[in-house]
Amino acid sequence: MRVGVLTGGGDCPGLNAVIRGIVRRGVQEYGYEFVGFRDGWKGPLEGLTMELGIPQVRGILPRGGTILGSSRTNLVKIDGGIERTEENLRKLGIDALIAIGGEDTLGVATTLTEHGFHVIGVPKTIDNDLSGTDYTFGFDTAVSIATEAIDRLHTTAESHHRILICEVMGRHAGWIALHSGMAGGANAILIPEVEFDLDEVIGWVESRFKASYAPIIVVAEGAMPLGGQMVTKDQTLDSFGHVKLSGIGEWLAQQVEERTGHEARTTVLGHIQRGGSPTAFDRVLATRFGLNAIEAVKDEAWGTMVALHGTDIVRVPLQLATGTLKTVPMERYEEAKSFFG
Ligand code: F6P
Repeated sequence: MRVGVLTGGGDCPGLNAVIRGIVRRGVQEYGYEFVGFRDGWKGPLEGLTMELGIPQVRGILPRGGTILGSSRTNLVKIDGGIERTEENLRKLGIDALIAIGGEDTLGVATTLTEHGFHVIGVPKTIDNDLSGTDYTFGFDTAVSIATEAIDRLHTTAESHHRILICEVMGRHAGWIALHSGMAGGANAILIPEVEFDLDEVIGWVESRFKASYAPIIVVAEGAMPLGGQMVTKDQTLDSFGHVKLSGIGEWLAQQVEERTGHEARTTVLGHIQRGGSPTAFDRVLATRFGLNAIEAVKDEAWGTMVALHGTDIVRVPLQLATGTLKTVPMERYEEAKSFFG
């Protein structure tokens, strides 16, 4: 059996741990051969490969990023993209492909499955917004990084009696904001799922100052004021058609400063949340996903994705990951609201 492996979309701590799990079990237990595809779907599209065996996966468990490289190349939007990919996979003698990615990468995987190709999916995103799995690896690392940042912001905010705003990733889902804001004791958490009322935010800020503390607001990049719009960096789109977000933190700082007379500053965590070494939780989850993905290849469970249900790794149809986004349920947001203000 010759198995291709690729990582697509935004990188995520734990990708290397998945690759290592796949290759170690695949070679040791089943004697499979592996082909590493470079840079997401660009690899199979253009025939860009790298050697992938035990020597290539030695020492990569704690390393961030992906040894395979990543991109947001979208085969479905490229004229003849699927056909060229299928031809390359055939020429390279690939019997099965493991695609590690988020909604978009797994969407392409679903299309290839519909064309009869043997694909297994592994869910990945720091945003934790993929349906079909309780958690994705990378999320715990991003939350840990953001929590540490919020802890640090508390002490400097209090020294200067400032409002400090921490903008975190989360385009349509506020999981990172919710978890890091809760863990870091934020005074307000603003998420894309709930349009925020600026007057209410001002109220929380003022009550925090009255209690002689300095307010910390955690805002997801996709959060919006009532009746407002997402704040984007510019109008350019990536290959999956997404605009670049960021700017809501700065906008909020201006508003809050004008309305309260207290100085407000914003820290945008950006790609710091995605880089570097995965936490122990993410290393274990990613390793288990890798081991189970190769079992799915052995069982010829084509068109499925490995997923975490409770503490078990299960298989679900690939389409589940690409259907509806898993957003923050209102009851989870209500819990966090007990600490606002
Ligand atoms: O990995 C997903 C994500 O973190 C989104 O929350 C964010 O909008 C996006 O990646 C930014 O990625 P990039 O800068 O690579 O386009």
